[in-house]
Amino acid sequence: MTIPVIATGMSGLVGSRVRELLQDKFYFEDLSLTTGIDITDADAVAKAFDLSDAKIVLHMAAKTDVDACEDDKYLGKEGGAWLVNVQGTKNIVSAAAKTGKKVIYISTDFVFDGTKEIYNEKDKPNPVSWYGYTKFLGEDEVSSSGEIFNIIRISYPYRSKFEEKMDFVHRILDNMKKGKRIYGLTDHIFTPTFVDDIAVCLELFLNRDLSGIYHVVGSQALSTIDALKIIKEVYNLSAEIIPVERSEFFKQRAFRPFKLALNNDKIQKLGLTMLPFDRGILKVKKQDSP
Ligand SMILES: NC(=O)c1ccc[n+]([C@@H]2O[C@H](COP(=O)([O-])OP(=O)(O)OC[C@H]3O[C@@H](n4cnc5c(N)ncnc54)[C@H](OP(=O)(O)O)[C@@H]3O)[C@@H](O)[C@H]2O)c1
Repeated sequence: MTIPVIATGMSGLVGSRVRELLQDKFYFEDLSLTTGIDITDADAVAKAFDLSDAKIVLHMAAKTDVDACEDDKYLGKEGGAWLVNVQGTKNIVSAAAKTGKKVIYISTDFVFDGTKEIYNEKDKPNPVSWYGYTKFLGEDEVSSSGEIFNIIRISYPYRSKFEEKMDFVHRILDNMKKGKRIYGLTDHIFTPTFVDDIAVCLELFLNRDLSGIYHVVGSQALSTIDALKIIKEVYNLSAEIIPVERSEFFKQRAFRPFKLALNNDKIQKLGLTMLPFDRGILKVKKQDSP
């Protein structure tokens, strides 16, 4: 029998793959604009929760475009980033508390400022972008609810090709294949995460009574330029990769944390394995080939 789960964000880059992989085990009651529920509408959310028998909520919906979120900053609480990421999460948390449902909230490495060598779950967030700030306030809504919760921080998710929204791997592949200039940041460290591994972890979180914060991230932190070299080699492409520093590359764009190595020891202790980028990318290539 499939277990009912209220889910948001199921049409997105991460959610659509999670649904594909877990739909035999869980029945996802999808709350999205497409299914007629705007999470910024507290009454609509409360009604959907009242009607549901699910005991658990997987909350992935967010405004995720970092630059578009930055543009919302001057609008403050009236802007989309705040409305979806903070108010939307508050609506979910409050409806969940009233109906006795546990919330699993998907968050981001962007809650950190990127000044530390490596981050674990005990490190204090200090977001430097409006996106990161609103996601952090979303975390705060969840953790201060007084209810049992999970905050799952993911980082640079990549997956099999998804036509609706490209992950960073397919954006780079697309540019390499079109012969565009490829710039590789030499001083940006990140921790890419294979979405199929996120799905395996979520299955465990949906099935077990765990609580607290977890970093569900890949097992390899690397520079962007090194990731580009791996992609180029695995896909056997001949693109030229031009080294560039972050101060030059992100000149006109939202400020980003630049050293985002996250440690995943806590989930490894649960027996979960997260692939390093150089192995995850091989799986993606295999999944992409017909
Ligand atoms: N992508 C990344 O690089 C990344 C990195 C770290 C963490 N994360 C986190 O992972 C989660 C999933 O990210 P993603 O990249 O998969 O997202 P995405 O592709 O941008 O999709 C966003 C999802 O949010 C839903 N949504 C947006 N506004 C909504 C609203 N007002 N009411 C209801 N649903 C709404 C959308 O559904 P409809 O449009 O169908 O309504 C869609 O399913 C997010 O919480 C994000 O913060 C993402």
